[in-house]
Amino acid sequence: MKVNHHALELEQNYLFSEVARRIRTFQAENPGRELLKLSIGDVTRPLSPIITEEMKAAAEEMAHAETFHGYGAEQGEAFLREAIAGYYQQRGMDIAAEDVFVSDGAKCDLGNLCDLFDSDNTVLLPNPVYPVYYDTSIMAGRRVIFADGTKENGFLPMPDASIQADLIYLCSPNNPTGAVYNKAQLAEWIAYAQAQGALILFDAAYEAYIRDPALPHSIFEIPGAETCAIEINSLSKTAGFTGVRCGWTVVPRTLQFDGASLHDMWFRRMATKYNGTSYIIQCAAAKVFTPEGLHAVRQDIHYYMENARIIKEALNRAGIHSVGGENAPYVWMQCPEQADSWAYFDHLLHAFGIAGTPGAGFGTAGQGWLRFSSFGTRETVEKAAAYLERL
Ligand code: MLT
Repeated sequence: MKVNHHALELEQNYLFSEVARRIRTFQAENPGRELLKLSIGDVTRPLSPIITEEMKAAAEEMAHAETFHGYGAEQGEAFLREAIAGYYQQRGMDIAAEDVFVSDGAKCDLGNLCDLFDSDNTVLLPNPVYPVYYDTSIMAGRRVIFADGTKENGFLPMPDASIQADLIYLCSPNNPTGAVYNKAQLAEWIAYAQAQGALILFDAAYEAYIRDPALPHSIFEIPGAETCAIEINSLSKTAGFTGVRCGWTVVPRTLQFDGASLHDMWFRRMATKYNGTSYIIQCAAAKVFTPEGLHAVRQDIHYYMENARIIKEALNRAGIHSVGGENAPYVWMQCPEQADSWAYFDHLLHAFGIAGTPGAGFGTAGQGWLRFSSFGTRETVEKAAAYLERL
């Protein structure tokens, strides 16, 4: 038996596992010291009763022969796919329920989509980058090249026509930097992908955090995307579903590559390797897209964005440069005095008990930067901000 040697090319620990390991060590060595956790982007607000009541009602259906459900539809229940398509249609996008595939989250979809592409493809990633795009590409044996985000380009790298790529991952609002592409910038990426015959994998997991009405929430707001893009999204951050698990991909039937329909290939892949998101969870997910569901989840989004504002203002008062935090739940700070990301992470942890995520963990272009998540409780954020403003 031979193992997948590409899987051995990864760093020993997944970024967030390494951060968690260092936090555990700090806590073991400093019993009783308070931890101000602004590291992993994990929600802390409980689910709205509007959503949990829906789960209870769906669980009750499972208790009766007349309403019991076994295996669900391969692509997800029609009522949820219709609700998701309606969410896009409200913004004027022509997305059909047939093009929506329900899953257990964006991270899984991003990894699973790798099944559709030959290993002989060049992957273009922004740098810094959500580690899942890089790790899954390496595991699949693909060549990876980078487009660097910098302070100068506002961490919004743009395509270079002289560089050849087959698969392009974009995340906007961006994890980790919180930067957001505007419509003209996404149009440039689409033109580049079309010229290259490349596919864009667009991660829109943070779209619900956009405040500026001019910014695009979906790549499908830009003409041409239906010929060159798949969109991945999830309710993890939109509705506090990190522990509930529900996401989706939009794979338009118009996507044709190498003589094949990516929609049909994804359908086949999901039918073979996935047996569907729990019926109970799909009912709860559909509730999110109702007017009262959207109203409830927007209260939590507002709470987290208020946290982002508090973190950002504390950094401003300390004279520390940061990006993000205005249309995204991440604040990306430049470490003072060109400090190394991991060294500065350790410093904040040991000096103040503040846990961020080292920018270098998201790629070489993140060196010298540190990410704060705004998904903590208000109490945690306010305590951390009191330290940060005096840095
Ligand atoms: C993060 O902290 O970047 C997120 O939690 C990652 C994720 O959603 O998997």
